[in-house]
Amino acid sequence: MPLSFSHLISTEQISRTDAELLLQTAASMEEELKQGVSDRLRGKVLASLFYEPSTRTRLSFETAMLRLGGQVVTADGIQFSSMYKGETIEDTIRMAGGYGDIIAMRHPEVGSAARAVTVSPVPFVNAGDGPGEHPTQALLDLYTIQKEFGRTQDLHIAMVGDLKFGRTVHSLSVLLALFPGIRVTLISPSELHMPEHIVSLLREKGVALDSGDSIEAGLHADVIYMTRVQKERFADVAEYERLKLRFILQADHLKGRKAIVMHPLPRVGEISTDIDTLPNAAYFRQAHNGVPMRMGIMALLLGAA
Ligand code: NCD
Repeated sequence: MPLSFSHLISTEQISRTDAELLLQTAASMEEELKQGVSDRLRGKVLASLFYEPSTRTRLSFETAMLRLGGQVVTADGIQFSSMYKGETIEDTIRMAGGYGDIIAMRHPEVGSAARAVTVSPVPFVNAGDGPGEHPTQALLDLYTIQKEFGRTQDLHIAMVGDLKFGRTVHSLSVLLALFPGIRVTLISPSELHMPEHIVSLLREKGVALDSGDSIEAGLHADVIYMTRVQKERFADVAEYERLKLRFILQADHLKGRKAIVMHPLPRVGEISTDIDTLPNAAYFRQAHNGVPMRMGIMALLLGAA
């Protein structure tokens, strides 16, 4: 059974059937990983274009392709690329689609992924479009939730930090809204609230929404999803400095609590390191789930799952 889409720009494209297929495929990829390298995508090439900093997303996309028996060509750093010379997104994608069989792109502009798919001759995957969306992160987050709880419904998720510029929480909340019994508590400084279009979408889909302005408001959730205040999106550094560590989760907060702590990483102070050794800390397990989920995404988009 194929996915209902051939390019992945936003979690708004994903149906519940798609999400379930992606979860199942990631789980079977995780089993395959135990056998070493597979040959599902032998002869296929991933064009990996990263025009914004990335460690985990890029490494896990590239690892995923290599583990599937394929190969990778990569362009990173605006200063070394034709984007720096003024090439349009459309021309870059036409070109990369002639080299690779699938493209993953991270780009600083919201909407860059939507522009890319208007010309992409091969499956295209959004690896983060500025403060817009990050659908593959949301899928690996959902996969983590499925593994940690054995379900993706009837769960309470508190999202904490920069909900305005944090693209992972945009994509994740839309994805969670596919499932029944989801409650979301939004905790951010008033300057960094979740964008209104996402809040309306969650309401339309029947998500139980509330908000708070202290970390305590989220401690009784099943998942405390922490985020980094996105320094690179601020025009005014003083504003960033003022807001950056408004919410810091510490081990004391978790005493006697079962909540798992997630974070797309990198963290820059908002999760105290004394949490790392607690069973609640799921963020490194979460990061590792990026490889099987991205294997699943690429295998499905290339018809080899
Ligand atoms: C996130 C991103 O790039 O949006 N990181 C990631 O992909 N793992 C979150 C962040 O940078 O804060």
